[in-house]
This record gives sequence, structure tokens and C-alpha cells, in this order.
Amino acid sequence: MQHFLKETDFTLEEAQSVFQTAKSYKEARPNNPAILDQQSWGLLFYKSSTRTRVSFEVGIHELGGFPIVLNAQNTQIGRGESVADSAKVLSRYLQGLVIRTFDHSIIEGFTVDATMPIVNGLTDFNHPCQLYSDLFTLLERFAPGDMNIDSLKGKKVTFLGDTACNMANSWIICAAYFGMEIALAGPEGFAPSAELDAALEANGLPIKYKWTTDAYQAVEGADVVYTDVWVSMGDEAEAETRLKQMAPYQVNSNLMNAAKKEAYFMHCLPAHPGKEVSQDVLDAPQSIIFDQAENRLHTQKAILAQLTKLNKV
Ligand code: CP
Ligand code: NVA
Repeated sequence: MQHFLKETDFTLEEAQSVFQTAKSYKEARPNNPAILDQQSWGLLFYKSSTRTRVSFEVGIHELGGFPIVLNAQNTQIGRGESVADSAKVLSRYLQGLVIRTFDHSIIEGFTVDATMPIVNGLTDFNHPCQLYSDLFTLLERFAPGDMNIDSLKGKKVTFLGDTACNMANSWIICAAYFGMEIALAGPEGFAPSAELDAALEANGLPIKYKWTTDAYQAVEGADVVYTDVWVSMGDEAEAETRLKQMAPYQVNSNLMNAAKKEAYFMHCLPAHPGKEVSQDVLDAPQSIIFDQAENRLHTQKAILAQLTKLNKV
């Protein structure tokens, strides 16, 4: 069974095909093929969501399938039913399952017993659907005709703020996989984890990212400046200290001016204006945040199409 838990679960050739399919779905919408006809897909959330929930729900519907949104707390999982039994039971009803959860081992646990494809809708470790959407959003600008992934090669991304979070991990993995340069700047104690280095090694990817505490050094020459919330879901107890520690990493116009003149600003959202990013940067013409959000819909449909094809669902 082919799942989509990590960015490298698709070969580069498959990823290229996902981006081209996403472009064709975007252009043809609402006339998309009913590839999920007669299928029911579950969306299981252990954490809050706006974009992931709505884009998957709409996307499954638009591909002719039936989406069922489940909140882990309101299922028997919330009362202690095992991941193994939940995966076996849900596999008897559904043709696929998107999961947003805490520890990455929970989603990996589902793949042990599921007989349907599992899609990662964010874990504490990574957020691959967001990254595929972000790369698609960049390809719309770098290679709008054929969405050729080679156009990503050599482009520099700078990630600021919480450089040990799921989004930072996903960016580091994708930069290595797609041949981009990546620099990260965040406070002491937020360097990328040993778990991330191990994941790069396990996938045969080079450990070439540059991490520093100096935001201005990191953004020099950047084609893309990226940030994420300073307090991720699950980190709420550390909120007060994080806000203080990360204040020097706010993406504001001074920092944007230190990147390439034409650099794009990106954020997976939700944004907290005045914290990780200033309002003027969010509103600036080089901010492509709402394209990123929209493209979740198109890209995830293409991810589902790729999984359906690979698994012959
Ligand atoms: N970017 C993202 O995944 O947003 P949600 O938390 O709203 O799903
Ligand atoms: N790092 C954030 C991403 C939200 C989409 C979180 O995990 O809360």
C-alpha cells in the first residue's frame, strides 16, 4: 500500500506528475474527473484545522467522493480504542484516510494495519501536503508552462522563527529533495533536531541546510522568505517564553529588504500579525500566502489521484 506520510514518499517523477495534474485540475475546475466515484474518504483530526479540513473535504467532493470528517476526541479513539483496531475498522468502510495528529508515530501506527492509503495532514514532525502546495505555488511563478521541478533547483529559501517545527522540517527535506538551497534562522535551542537529520539520512538526502541565530545573515540572497507560527499546536505551555525568544525573527519590511528584491513572502497560515510577521509584509504584493492556501485544494486532489493510481483503489 502506497501512503503519503512524508515528502519523499513520491519519487521525483511522481511529484512532477502531481504538480502537472494539480495545474490541470486548477484550470479545469469545477470540471474535474470523478476519480473518487463511489469512494468514501475519512479525515481524522486530533488537532484543529481550517485549511486542511476544508480543502480536503471540498477536494474529495469535487472528485466525486464522499468525505467524512472525524474528530479523534469524539470517536472511540478519544476513549482509548487502539490505533491498530481503529485502522482495521476504518479500513472496512473507507477507501482512504487523511490524519492530522501529534506524534508522527501515531500516523505510522495507522499504516501498519490500514488496508487503505493514509495521508499525512500534519504531525508534530512534518506537513507534506502543505509543502507540495507551497512548491506548486512557486512553480506557478518559476515555470508556469510545464511546472518543471528543475526550475526549483538552486533557488534559496529562508525559514525564520521556530526552526525546529514541523514546517521547518518539511522545508529542509524538500529543499534537499528538490535541489533548493535552504537557510534557517531561529533562537538558540531551536536548531533542527537529530530526528530530522536521521530522516534526511534515511532517505539518502544530503544534510546541507544552514542554521544560524542571525536572521539578516540567513535572508541574504533569498528568493523565498518563509515563516510559521511561533507556537505550534501542542506547544501552548511554552507560549510566553517562545514569544520572547522569537521576537528578533519577525519577518518585517526591514528583513524583507535584506532578501532579494523580488523575493516572495510565504506562510502556511494561520498568521499572527505583529508576531512572526508584520501586517505590511502579509499585505505586500510579494506575499503569496492566499495562493498557497488555495493551492492546497488543487495539489491535494492531485495527491489523492496519484495515490489512487498507485494503489489501484
Ligand atoms: N496550513 C494549515 O495546515 O492550516 P490549517 O491548520 O488551518 O489546516
Ligand atoms: N507549525 C504549525 C503549522 C500549522 C499549519 C502547527 O503545527 O501548529
